[in-house]
Amino acid sequence: QTYALILAGGSGTRFWPLSRDKKPKQLLNLLGDTTLLNQTISRLEGLIPKENILILTNELQIDEVRHVASELPAENIFAEPAKRDTAPAVALGVGLIAARDPEAIMIVLPADQLINDIESYHSVLSDAITTAQHTESLITVGIKPTWACPSYGYVERGAPSPLAPAGIKNIPHEVTCFREKPAPELAEKFLNKGNFAWNAGMFIWSIPTVIKELKLHTPQLAEFIEELKASDDLANTVSEKFKTLAPISIDYALMEKAAHVLNIEASFDWDDVGSWISVSKYLADAPNKNKTNSPLEELDSSNNIVFTESKNTQVALLGVDDLIVVQTGDSILIANRHQADDIKKLVKKLPKEL
Ligand code: GDD
Ligand code: MG
Repeated sequence: QTYALILAGGSGTRFWPLSRDKKPKQLLNLLGDTTLLNQTISRLEGLIPKENILILTNELQIDEVRHVASELPAENIFAEPAKRDTAPAVALGVGLIAARDPEAIMIVLPADQLINDIESYHSVLSDAITTAQHTESLITVGIKPTWACPSYGYVERGAPSPLAPAGIKNIPHEVTCFREKPAPELAEKFLNKGNFAWNAGMFIWSIPTVIKELKLHTPQLAEFIEELKASDDLANTVSEKFKTLAPISIDYALMEKAAHVLNIEASFDWDDVGSWISVSKYLADAPNKNKTNSPLEELDSSNNIVFTESKNTQVALLGVDDLIVVQTGDSILIANRHQADDIKKLVKKLPKEL
């Protein structure tokens, strides 16, 4: 059987004031009619049955996740007892899936991305599933990079894998190097080499293969999985052991170290909407290069991004350029668009309850 594990426990402050600790990016209705988490679930329709979709989040967000993912069986949604980043979350997912089917194929999916071409998405994932069934490899999905973004992982694509099963359309390539979040200069070098792809943050592998690789490269997590397997009170084992795991992302803990990594190039559109600037690409064009999700009038104002929580707020701009303005029920952000990445720093100075 094939299972999907959706990782939906990340926190994010880059979308303040819309995002809060209880409502990070994946739970926001930024684009389209539903949250990014909802879109991640719907995208699996026809590929993975709902009873095989698991979501991992944390205590702060669990109520909201249960609310937006009410179409999934309640027993498929779990809260981690502590925030430990994605490697411990993946290990917990491996344990939960192994308890249902120790030979399963597992797809790890982030919950915070925008993808619209569902047909190609299914085609890439089903070929990845077939590859995971026939090889002992960890399969990544590669996105053609357009700039030297330092906040992604990079995979160097080598030759087409001789292990590739016959009959698949999206051919996996060998990965000669996996590098998470390189410094901008290194990212630039990767881009210039031409054979690097961005890591889409999706991983496909079989349960036995991932356990074998975790044993080699991150024994603490392999041990945790063994404890889960041996436990007759899963909830109790999780609440005792999870907090003892070292916080690290799966990219650093496993992918950078593993030898048997393959990469399939994504033939679909992909956006890890990372800031108000990237959201603005999808907002309506208002006169004078302004972007908004509300009715907007302007005089001598250009290049502004205005996002209001309620879409019917009248916006009026007078003599201002290059601003990001975000309005919610209890807060307003007014920022210089060239400093969008510093919103994190600003949020640190605000009262905690915001
Ligand atoms: N359950 C759970 N627990 N989920 C988590 C946790 C956690 O502690 N931390 C993060 N997540 C979720 C996030 O909500 C997101 O859906 C996913 O895991 C990935 O985490 P991010 O924190 O968003 O990672 P990233 O964007 O910095 O980097 C990853 O994704 C990039 C592509 O978007 C890496 O895999 C990169 O290599 C990749 O390029
Ligand atoms: Mg992300």
